[in-house]
Amino acid sequence: MTPYITVEKLTKKYGELTAVDNLSFTVGENEIFGFLGPNGAGKTTTLNVIATLSDFDRGEVNIAGYDLARDEFKIKSLLGLVPQEIALYRSLTAAENVSLFASLYGLRGRALKKAVDDALEFVGLSDVRKKYAGKLSGGMQRRLNIACGIAHKPKLIIMDEPTVGVDARSRDNILHSIRTLRDEGATIIYTSHYMPEVQQIADRIAIIDRGRLAAIGTESELLGFVTDRKSVTIGIGPAANAGGAAGAYGVSGTVGLAGATDSADAGKAAAKVAGAAADIGALPGVKRARYVPELQEMHIDIDLSLTDISPILNIFIARDISVRSFAEEAPNLETTFLALTGRELNEGGEPGGAAERNIDGGNNSTNGSGAVAQGAVRGGERR
Ligand SMILES: Nc1ncnc2c1ncn2[C@@H]1O[C@H](COP(=O)(O)OP(=O)(O)O)[C@@H](O)[C@H]1O
Ligand SMILES: [Mg+2]
Repeated sequence: MTPYITVEKLTKKYGELTAVDNLSFTVGENEIFGFLGPNGAGKTTTLNVIATLSDFDRGEVNIAGYDLARDEFKIKSLLGLVPQEIALYRSLTAAENVSLFASLYGLRGRALKKAVDDALEFVGLSDVRKKYAGKLSGGMQRRLNIACGIAHKPKLIIMDEPTVGVDARSRDNILHSIRTLRDEGATIIYTSHYMPEVQQIADRIAIIDRGRLAAIGTESELLGFVTDRKSVTIGIGPAANAGGAAGAYGVSGTVGLAGATDSADAGKAAAKVAGAAADIGALPGVKRARYVPELQEMHIDIDLSLTDISPILNIFIARDISVRSFAEEAPNLETTFLALTGRELNEGGEPGGAAERNIDGGNNSTNGSGAVAQGAVRGGERR
């Protein structure tokens, strides 16, 4: 990775509130860098500093060899910003909006006209170029917002939650466009609080929480260092809706006992399953086995390195317990985030909708205060 942006110990306060707290990370040249964190994490604040729109209290930012504190105008000329809040002139047409923004970056005459045509084409809005921005659908306004930020073909593109509030088709269209921009040579910082999107598009990902870096790396690095286990779910007994002996392995008194003919049967079945759980839990490579009577499922956490799970199945066979289904759940970024921060990302929220999220509650991070997860070291971010 050739570094393109280096952020070093960046701190930005709003009065008493430290919105960005000693944040350091590197963005590689020509990569899509995913910037992930819940509302209020400090994403927009960080991007506004990088985009030279906001001052900061401490730290250094270097972009393409320029020091932000000294060469602000050099950096301005390299970048295009797609802001979180849609910034369009409602009473100008789509084309006029793009033209206005591109001219602010210095384009004139034929070059300007071509840039406008290209940008509208790029986001799929050529057909509505003469429509007033205020008359476009939300998804189209989002796409126009992007066109305005990229028409001048910036080397660095900063996108702050560009897909909030758009329909699935516009979202796919936008994500596809972003990859094209990367393939054409741009470096892109892409911010979202929506996990699947970042997972889908980013080459590397930084997870920030409460203004601090919680983890950084490729998707597989992030998954690998947070979790050393995966889970296996085994459905046992007849399907719950099969009637008859359904629920015969139920353990809880209120659920899962439907089909048991008498309490002695139920007691035996429960003992059988409890015994199986204990045996499985004692197998090498198994971290934990737990029966969930409501679902008639055995939930088993195993080491990622455990590749042969036949000893687990043998226990069911030996105890004459029928196996109905089998599913393996790979670790995902959602659980990674939870493990790192002790909190869940609020998926799919609207802009600002959850901005009041409590960000200054106690530090319940399972990662220890201020520690950056291991992937950062593997990713070469720490010096
Ligand atoms: N102009 C401002 N004045 C005061 N506080 C602000 C301002 N902008 C953002 N904040 C606060 O800083 C924190 C980080 O906000 P922000 O950078 O917008 O987070 P994100 O983009 O990750 O949702 C939040 O607690 C937010 O309320
Ligand atoms: Mg934001």
